[in-house]
Amino acid sequence: QDPRIEGIASSIRVVPNFPKPGIMFQDITTLLLDPKAFKNTVDLFVERYTGKDITVVAGIEARGFIFGPPIALAIGAKFIPLRKPRKLPGEVISEEYVLEYGTDCLQMHIGAVQPGDRALIVDDLIATGGTLCAAIKLLERAGAEVVECACVIELPELKGRERLNGKPLYVLVESW
Ligand code: PRP
Ligand code: MG
Repeated sequence: QDPRIEGIASSIRVVPNFPKPGIMFQDITTLLLDPKAFKNTVDLFVERYTGKDITVVAGIEARGFIFGPPIALAIGAKFIPLRKPRKLPGEVISEEYVLEYGTDCLQMHIGAVQPGDRALIVDDLIATGGTLCAAIKLLERAGAEVVECACVIELPELKGRERLNGKPLYVLVESW
C-alpha cells in the first residue's frame, strides 16, 4: 500500500451518531484542513488516471465537487457536475436512486458528454452504492464509456461495490 494512504486515513474524522443514531459519519472536512493529506489524495488519483485517455471527470454534488475538479485540471479532462434536482439551468437527463427513506435524484446537462467520451466518476465516499450507480447510468445514457469510479472512502460492509454492475471502483481508504 502506498505510504501516503495512512496519513490520508488518519486525517478523516469519524463522528459517531451523525446525522442520526447508529451512523458513523466519515468527515472529510478534516482531510481538507490537512494540506498534505489533501494534496496526497489528489495526487494518488492523478497518478492513477494520467495517460488513461480520460476525457471527462464527473463529480457528484456536493462532496464530489471537492475532489473532482483538481483531478480534471491535472489530467486535462473536462469537468461535469452531476447535480441534485433543479440546480442546472439547461436541458437535463435525470436518474433517481433510493435512499434509506425516500428517493433522491442526480441530473446532468444534455450535451455535456459526447458519445465516445471516456469518463471517470468521482465522489468522496461509497456507502450503499446507489449514488454512484445513478451517476454511471447518466453517463452511459449520454454515450460515455465509464472507465472507473473513484472514491476516497469505501464502507465495504454495505457492499455498494456490488451495485456497480462490474464497473471498476478504486478507493484509497476502507472504513469498517
Ligand atoms: C453522501 C456521499 C456520497 C453518498 C454515498 O452524499 O457524499 O455522495 O452519500 O451514499 P450511497 O453510496 O449510499 O449512495 P450525500 O447524498 O449525503 O450528500 P452530499 O455529498 O451533498 O453531502
Ligand atoms: Mg455526496
